[in-house]
Amino acid sequence: MIIMAAVLFGPGQSFGWVDGAPTEATDTRRFAALVRRIFSTSAALSTTDAAAAARRGTPEWREFEQAVQEGLDICRNYVERKLTEVEAQLAAGEPTTGIIAEMLQNGEDVSREEIVRIVADLFLAAGDTTAHSTSWALYQLGRDGALQRRLAAAVRRAVPAGSPTISSEQLERVPLVRAVVKETLRLYPVAPFLTRLIQSDTVIGGYHVPAGTPLCVSLFSSSRDSRYFPAPLQFLPERWLRPDGRGAGAAGCPAHGQHGALAGSAHTESGLRHRHACMPFAGGVRGCIGKRVAELQMQLLLARLVHQFQLGTENRRPAQFVMRMVGVMSDELQLTLRPRDD
Ligand code: HEM
Repeated sequence: MIIMAAVLFGPGQSFGWVDGAPTEATDTRRFAALVRRIFSTSAALSTTDAAAAARRGTPEWREFEQAVQEGLDICRNYVERKLTEVEAQLAAGEPTTGIIAEMLQNGEDVSREEIVRIVADLFLAAGDTTAHSTSWALYQLGRDGALQRRLAAAVRRAVPAGSPTISSEQLERVPLVRAVVKETLRLYPVAPFLTRLIQSDTVIGGYHVPAGTPLCVSLFSSSRDSRYFPAPLQFLPERWLRPDGRGAGAAGCPAHGQHGALAGSAHTESGLRHRHACMPFAGGVRGCIGKRVAELQMQLLLARLVHQFQLGTENRRPAQFVMRMVGVMSDELQLTLRPRDD
């Protein structure tokens, strides 16, 4: 959320943190708790007639409405402050930073309340999705010492020891960290199902689908399909690396089929590799707009952690992927960090 606050409000805006550290009373924590309530109540409402629940004012609906209202109030507070600041900067001819400043200058038709709702929407979409995905990556790294050592060595080749930060250029030179993130999102897509209403008559996989049909696409199933991903249930980030060790690009093969144990089984029946077998951020006009922010945030965090620490997990039983509106870990991640001594 701190990163999202910087993107939206400009650097230095802390969304309730004190001197860069969270405190119990911060808005960050309050907002994160509200997001959880919004997700859990939405999950309950999504299995019932939500419109009827709203009319009757059921307890689930009231809890949902209250969480949304409180979340919007927190955002309104920050947005109002930022808008006042930007207006003063603009009046004084000073430079401005952040997406909110851009919306104010370029979006003549965007009202203040709409900006509040856009900001709330972005925080909702950004926070838990990235946090849950990062937890899975840490969990897998914590369980696999050999992978962790390979990653630490790759990061150390790109980033001098003792360096307090990692630049995006340095990160570019560590394809394995991108591969770890891709593999995490393949096995644990936080939004495992996409729902759409078909706009016009169409044919999908040989089936005629009339306009108006509700469609549910399981990203979870396709990214665990052995036709596209050999050993689909294993966490194998190297499957995303090209034979020369470079990372797969945006159009890269989800499982190139040439790499070690995975050789030969990466292609669809047509002999072509399937670019859409793994789509954790969906695609097209309603695809995730935060893909780059999320990927970068995860890559940076993992690279910085393994650069300095040995990660371990104290979870006693294997964690399962379970649905709580979004896909989450069944157990709380119990992560240990020790200064790296290798
Ligand atoms: C690992 C992290 C993330 C994952 C896996 C993820 C995944 C997705 C997916 C699958 C969708 C499409 C949902 C659908 O079509 O039904 C989506 C939409 C969206 N995401 Fe993300 N997301 C992540 C992080 C973020 C971040 C960091 C932001 C904000 C910066 C964000 C903002 C959005 C927004 C605004 C939409 C709605 C786009 C629209 O409907 O036009 N997401 N995300």
